[in-house]
Amino acid sequence: MRTSTSSLVSVALALPALTGATICKNFVDSERLQELIKLEDLLAGSRKLQELADAHGGNRAFGSGGHNATVDFVYDTLTALNYYNVTKQPFTELFSYGTGKLIVGGEAVEANIMTYTASGTLVDTPIILAPGLGCTPEEFPATVAGNIALVQRGSCTFAAKAGSAKTAGAAGLIVYNNVPGSLSGTLGGVGNYAPVVGISLEAGQAILADLEAGPVTGSLDINAIVEQRVNYNVIAETKGGDHDNVLVLGGHSDSVGAGPGINDDGSGSIGILRVAEALSKFKVKNAVRFAWWGAEEFGLLGSRYYVNQLNGSATELARMRAYLNFDMIASPNYVNGIYDGDGSAFGLVGPAGSDAIEKEFEKFYDSKGAKHVPSAFSGRSDYAAFIENGVPAGGIFTGAEVLKTEAEAALFGGQAGVAYDKNYHTARDTYDNLNHEAYLTNSKAIAHTVATYALSFDSLAPVNLSKRRYDAARAQFTRRGSHGHAGEHSGPCGGGDTI
Ligand SMILES: *[C@@H]1O[C@H](CO)[C@@H](O)[C@H](O)[C@H]1NC(C)=O
Ligand SMILES: *[C@@H]1O[C@H](CO)[C@@H](O)[C@H](O)[C@H]1NC(C)=O
Ligand SMILES: *[C@@H]1O[C@H](CO)[C@@H](O)[C@H](O)[C@H]1NC(C)=O
Ligand SMILES: *[C@@H]1O[C@H](CO)[C@@H](O)[C@H](O)[C@H]1NC(C)=O
Ligand SMILES: [Zn+2]
Repeated sequence: MRTSTSSLVSVALALPALTGATICKNFVDSERLQELIKLEDLLAGSRKLQELADAHGGNRAFGSGGHNATVDFVYDTLTALNYYNVTKQPFTELFSYGTGKLIVGGEAVEANIMTYTASGTLVDTPIILAPGLGCTPEEFPATVAGNIALVQRGSCTFAAKAGSAKTAGAAGLIVYNNVPGSLSGTLGGVGNYAPVVGISLEAGQAILADLEAGPVTGSLDINAIVEQRVNYNVIAETKGGDHDNVLVLGGHSDSVGAGPGINDDGSGSIGILRVAEALSKFKVKNAVRFAWWGAEEFGLLGSRYYVNQLNGSATELARMRAYLNFDMIASPNYVNGIYDGDGSAFGLVGPAGSDAIEKEFEKFYDSKGAKHVPSAFSGRSDYAAFIENGVPAGGIFTGAEVLKTEAEAALFGGQAGVAYDKNYHTARDTYDNLNHEAYLTNSKAIAHTVATYALSFDSLAPVNLSKRRYDAARAQFTRRGSHGHAGEHSGPCGGGDTI
């Protein structure tokens, strides 16, 4: 069929008016942006991530097919909106993944391999207790040679323990926790280490009891790979708005290797994606920059890469008026945790302005008649790179492996004495691992803060770079200080603990 030239022209002319692409948009407003956030759209996004994991071996870990597909999905969704300047930012990092099996006295013990561990297979091998903390080779008895050493967590890094065990001649190492609960840690990089797993305090005590009674043997099978992998951050900034006053917000797009990561952090990834889509229906006064960070689970690598490549540029950093982080927003046994930016609950104070951001989230929950609690601002997710540069930050965290208290169960329902997310960092963090009510409410909380700051940063003090430098130095101090605590568990995205 032949189409006349004149009808083509009229279609082309009519198009902008029909779609309202540029002329009919209003400035964003919190209520209207929130209305566009629908549970069915959030769940459709989560289902998509589950499918991508299912099609690629069950996970979306960085550099994997599942993560590549996630990055492409986010990138394609955003570019189709024609509202953002979207970039894929590549970076290369060392990847380590594997599986580990530990059997003691014929019974399987839940064990997590440490990131960057060596591989090894030991069958019916004596388990030898190192009575100290195993921080030097001398702290291992000579009898560990060729055998599996057992040592408690604490006092020095896992890397120091695994290196000392190797030097002492141990063929394998089990580190048991020094606080209740399981242990997943990292050696921080490749090195000359004994194959090493972490186990819970309870499992460690059971082996200690067996050792009191007589010799104990175990089988340890660690199958690990360590390799350089290319990975991506996806960054999308509104074409409109003031690019000298930018709201930055993000979540991480990668999962752990153990599972599909649909709550951690599929929930934050989809929450911000749906808000990005909804925002495209409006005009903004301040530019909004969304980020999907790669390789968070390996030590906040994507967000750190992003900030590092700015080379400390005062101009670039000064443009960032605030950073918001959304890492796990739909935990099955959730609390609505707001990062404690003012330090009132946990004593870890964020850069100036973080207090105002915390209040903005509080205002949102209060307006919905929803409960909220403060969540420690400990630098254990992607906001760390921002607060270390003095950028005010905030965000939401619905909880990971820590157990819900009675008081929290009274506020939010759910089960006291059960982890906020009992499927955290496992193969069970699937599409079925989401609390729908929390997912919707917290995605609307994202919409509220995005709308608020896209219109005005009046509630935050103007950027003062010397104040930011002061706050940055303090943030680095609290970050270092927060490590040595014996009771400090892995935060939202553990597996990154080094000590
Ligand atoms: C993921 O993408 C990177 C970068 O393009 C590529 O090097 C790598 O082979 C991809 N991985 C898989 C498993 O497809
Ligand atoms: C889009 O982003 C790229 C990379 O950050 C930048 O170089 C470019 O100037 C941006 N374009 C617009 C129109 O903002
Ligand atoms: C930072 O330095 C690197 C290496 O010199 C360069 O490739 C990159 O473009 C710089 N980034 C900015 C924002 O200037
Ligand atoms: C910026 O911060 C510094 C250090 O806190 C303070 O002394 C100074 O008065 C501030 N400047 C302005 C213009 O507020
Ligand atoms: Zn996470």
